[in-house]
Amino acid sequence: MTLSPESDCARDNTSIPSVTVVDHYRCRLIKPMFDFWQSLLAALERIVMLPSLIQSVFPLPSRKRVRGDAAGTVRTYDRTMDDLLGEVQRLFEAPLEPAKLLAMSGKLQDQFAPKLQESNICMLPSYNHKLPTGLEQGTYLALDVGGSTFRVAVVELSGKQQPGSKSMRIVTMKSYKIDNSVRSLRGHAFFDWMAEKIESAVMDPQVKKINGTKSFPMGLAWSFPVEQTSIRSGNLLDMGKGFRATEGLMGQDLSELIMAPCRKRNLPVHMDSIINDSSATLLSRAYEDPSTRFAVILGTGFNIAVHLPTNALAASKFHGYPQKWLNEASHVLVNTELSMFGKNVFPTTKWDDYLNETHVRPDFQPFEHLISGRYLGEIVRLILVEAVKTAGLFSGELPQKLDESYSFETGTIAAMEMDESKNLTQAIAIFQSRHPCSKPPSYNDISFIRQVSQLVSHRAAAYLAAGIHALWSLRIKSEGLTPASAGRLAIGCNGSVIEKYPLFRELCQSHLDELTTLSGAEPKSIALEVAVESAIFGAAVAVSTLEA
Ligand code: GLC
Repeated sequence: MTLSPESDCARDNTSIPSVTVVDHYRCRLIKPMFDFWQSLLAALERIVMLPSLIQSVFPLPSRKRVRGDAAGTVRTYDRTMDDLLGEVQRLFEAPLEPAKLLAMSGKLQDQFAPKLQESNICMLPSYNHKLPTGLEQGTYLALDVGGSTFRVAVVELSGKQQPGSKSMRIVTMKSYKIDNSVRSLRGHAFFDWMAEKIESAVMDPQVKKINGTKSFPMGLAWSFPVEQTSIRSGNLLDMGKGFRATEGLMGQDLSELIMAPCRKRNLPVHMDSIINDSSATLLSRAYEDPSTRFAVILGTGFNIAVHLPTNALAASKFHGYPQKWLNEASHVLVNTELSMFGKNVFPTTKWDDYLNETHVRPDFQPFEHLISGRYLGEIVRLILVEAVKTAGLFSGELPQKLDESYSFETGTIAAMEMDESKNLTQAIAIFQSRHPCSKPPSYNDISFIRQVSQLVSHRAAAYLAAGIHALWSLRIKSEGLTPASAGRLAIGCNGSVIEKYPLFRELCQSHLDELTTLSGAEPKSIALEVAVESAIFGAAVAVSTLEA
């Protein structure tokens, strides 16, 4: 996404008394303009562009509490929309001060300590101890099982070539939607479904031509926890995300569960590597940038993988690892399952608490509930429902589907935030097409949604920064380094929220810069780098490192 200088951030907000933390960070992302007249001009432009600022600089008369609905009935409301927005703003911005975020990072580190000693669901070591050199070459069949798509691709790694040329290439890829009917497949039925899709991909004439009669080396990126038992196998753990595949199969070998139906179909494939999607992202980014030590996945789900010294984890975490591996490995790729941390660490609002209480698995992934794409839209929806009922949003009429849980998608709020035009024409059209109402939404209704979304997504970006800071501190301590001596570090980022949500990565980076420098690191010592298609590439890189 490009930021235009005339966007609502093109100034130093410190001169405006009622400036919000959101504005403060958003505005840091734009080069300040020093010329007085230019600044004045920009400020006027911004007032036109950003309705929230109009309200903060020249408060509008509060909307009346008495409003007529679509049918002309006059209703009274407990408060004005401005009152409610003020409350939302206070609640979502109060925790974002650097000192508070640092305290959250500290509490998270306290939560890590026991899980690094013992836990069979988070801080899971893999068998991958070496990072790729970037010189590995080969052609692989890469599988990526995500929350809503299963992808099968032939990936070619060609090693470092001429500057500018691509070292990783998807030769061909097939995507299969994982809808609710697939998610509800129980036990073996899910793995049969996978084998059927692998068959349709490898029987493609183009794929057949690539591999001839040979068996394809296969790598799997699995976006669920897995207890690794070797580089190519792992035990099935609770999947979450609405999947029922584990029913009757919990703890069984994932490789065998996939390979058995593949063998039945005589498919020319063999499983060489299984890794979590966050670890795949790390390997894929490390293939291109050797300073990569972390990977963040933030789309529907959330997770972070980190390359840690083996001594950061208790010896019991390596139970069953071959002696040769233990002798050789100084580091290990760890799937932190960070989504499961954060209970009683991150301040929550009544809307977060309601979301958690009504969730099918309350408290299972508290961090994910606050920041991932599955939940951002839902948090905003809960606030909107309250605004309709208590403050007269949409003249008190609930637009279609807005009363259904999870009906307000994060993609919708992202698209609405993207519209920075004066009249919010796009944002109005997007909302209306997805949630029609008997009366078209007003500019004020849509502006309210955009401001609530900005507050919710900005809090998510800041909490993510606190999570990254906590793991960065853990890594520094376990490497025997200090923040000042830790050096530069790259973090591979993948997933719709971190890649595409307007300003999300920039806001997270800005908080991270602040937190790391406060901790004594050199400015800009962590760089969040987008790693496109990294789960699928990483599945292939994982296989390639076995051969190198
Ligand atoms: C979920 C899963 C985790 C996965 C993440 C991103 O939180 O528990 O294993 O890495 O989503 O897909």
